[in-house]
Amino acid sequence: MEKPQVNNKYTMPTNKEKYELLARKNEEALQGGGAARIESQHKKGKLTARERVHLLMDEGSFEEIGKFVMHRAKDFGLDKEHYLGDGVITGYGTVNGRLVYVFSQDFTVFGGSLSETHAEKIVKIMDLAMKNGAPVIGLNDSGGARIQEGVVSLGGYADIFYRNTLASGVIPQLSAIMGPCAGGAVYSPAITDFILMVENTSYMFVTGPNVVKTVTQENVTAEELGGASTHSTKSGVTHFSCANEVEAINHIKKLLSYMPQNCEEDAPRYAYEMGDESRPALNDLIPDNPNQPYDMREVIEGVVDADSFLEVHKNFAENIVVGFARLAGRSIGIVGNQPASLAGVLDIQASVKAARFVRFCDCFNIPLLVFEDVPGFLPGTDQEWNAIITNGAKLLYAFSEATVPRVTVITRKAYGGAYDVMNSKHIGADLNYAWPMAEIAVMGAKGAAEIIFKKEISEAADPVAKLQEKVDEYTAKFANPYRAAHRGYVDEVILPEDTRKKLISAFKMLENKVDKLPKKKHGNIPL
Ligand code: HXC
Repeated sequence: MEKPQVNNKYTMPTNKEKYELLARKNEEALQGGGAARIESQHKKGKLTARERVHLLMDEGSFEEIGKFVMHRAKDFGLDKEHYLGDGVITGYGTVNGRLVYVFSQDFTVFGGSLSETHAEKIVKIMDLAMKNGAPVIGLNDSGGARIQEGVVSLGGYADIFYRNTLASGVIPQLSAIMGPCAGGAVYSPAITDFILMVENTSYMFVTGPNVVKTVTQENVTAEELGGASTHSTKSGVTHFSCANEVEAINHIKKLLSYMPQNCEEDAPRYAYEMGDESRPALNDLIPDNPNQPYDMREVIEGVVDADSFLEVHKNFAENIVVGFARLAGRSIGIVGNQPASLAGVLDIQASVKAARFVRFCDCFNIPLLVFEDVPGFLPGTDQEWNAIITNGAKLLYAFSEATVPRVTVITRKAYGGAYDVMNSKHIGADLNYAWPMAEIAVMGAKGAAEIIFKKEISEAADPVAKLQEKVDEYTAKFANPYRAAHRGYVDEVILPEDTRKKLISAFKMLENKVDKLPKKKHGNIPL
C-alpha cells in the first residue's frame, strides 16, 4: 500500500483515496509494457495479450488472477523496471459456456519472457485447472527464459513442464503460438495436446537463426527455421497453421467443442435427429481399378455429420488423415489412410501422426473410427534407417492400448502388417466392416505370386503367362473381404451407402463400453 507522506508524517488515506489507488493500479496493469510497445505489437499484425484473451472468452466471463504480481529480480537494472502482471495475463472464464483456464503472455513486457513470478502465475492456474477438471489454454508469445533472472527462470519453466506432464491425459491442454517463441517457450507447448501457429508472425525454435549460423554455419530465416508453414508441413510440431490470430482463436474454440472437460467426462453431445442416413454417392467413390487413387476425405465427409469434420495435421504426413467429427451429434476421432497421397502407405511420419491422435482420443473418451485403405508399410533404406520399425510400432501400440469404442471400415486395401496395425479386431477393435471392394491379404497379388511360385514360374515354358496365371489365382482367392469375413475378422461386408447407418448404430451399441487394461504403473510405448 502506498503511504502518502505530508511533512514526513504518515496520513491515513481515506477510503475514497484507497479506491482511487486501486483504480490507478488496475489502469496501469492494462497498459502492459506501455503504449509504444503496444503500438509496435499492433504494427506487426499482432494482438495484445489482453485482446487475445477477450477474443477467446465468452463476453464478460474472464476473471483475472494475479493482475498485480511483480517480479522480485534485482540484477541488471530490473529493480528499477516493474510492470504489473509481469508479462503474463492469467485467469479463468468460459468458452461457449464451458469453464477454461488461460494464460496469455504479454510480449510488450520484457518480450513475454518467463521470470520466476511469471512462471508462478502460470503454475497457479494450471493447479486450479487440475483440481477443477477443466482445459488449460496457453497463448504463447515469449522470448523464453528471462535472461536477467538466470536459474530461477529455468526453474520456473521446469515447474511448468512438470505440471504439463502431470496434466497430460487428465485435462486437455492447448497451445497457440502467437509470436516468436524461443528456448523454454517451445517445450511446454510440445508437451500439450495440440499446437496452433499463426502464419508469418509466430515462430518456434529451440535456438534462433543467429545461434544456428554460429553453430552450424547455416543461413536460415526465422520463417524457414520455425515458422508456421515449416512446422505444419516439415516437422509436424504444429497441428494447425492459421492465417491470422483471429482464425487461431476461433480454431481453439472449435477444437474444444469436440473434447470433454477432463478424462472423467464425455465430450459434449450435439442435438441430432435421425433421418434418411443412406448415402448412395459413396457407392461410386472407389474406382474400379484398385490402383487408382481417390480422396479419403470424401469418404469421411460422406459418412460424418455435415460440416463436422475438423482435420488435424492437415498438411503433414498427408498419406494419413486424422481429425475430429460428429456422428449423429456425438464426437468421434477419425483415422483414415489416404490413397491420394503415396497410395496411403504407412511411413514413419504417418505412423507417429496417427499414434499421437489415437492416444489423445483414448485419453479423453473420444471413440475411434478408422477408414482403412493401406498397401502396407513403406519400404526402403530411408525408412529403415530412421526406424520405421520403432515408429510403426507406436501406432500398433496406440491402437492396442485404446479402450474407447473402436470401429474399422476397410474401404479397399488392407495388406500386410498394416492390416494388423490399422485397428484390426485382433488388437481390440470392437467392430470391423468391409466394403465389397476390400482386399485383405499378406501382400499384393504380383509380389505374392513372384515369391511363392518363384520356381514354378522360372521353370515354365512361358514364365510371363505363368506369372499372370498365378497372379490371377492369388487375386481370386484374396483380393476380396470374404476370407476375412468367413473367419469373423470382418463382422459384416456392407454397401458403402449403408456405412453411416451402420456406424451410427455401432457407436450407439458401444456407448457404455467398459474395457480395462491390466494393472500397471504405465506402459512402455516404443519411443
Ligand atoms: C529478457 C527479453 C528476452 C528474454 C526478449 N526480451 N527476449 N528480455 N529475456 N529472453 C526483451 C528485449 O530486451 C526487448 O526489450 C523486448 O523483449 C523485445 O525484444 P526484441 O528483441 O526487441 O524483439 P524482436 O526483434 O521481435 O525479437 C524477439 C526475439 C528476440 C526473437 C524473441 O528478442 C530474442 O531472440 N530473444 C532471446 C531469445 C532467447 O535466446 N531466449 C532465451 C532462451 S533460453 P525492450 O525493453 O527493448 O522492449 C531458454 C532456456 C529454457 O529459454 C530452456 C528450458 C528447456
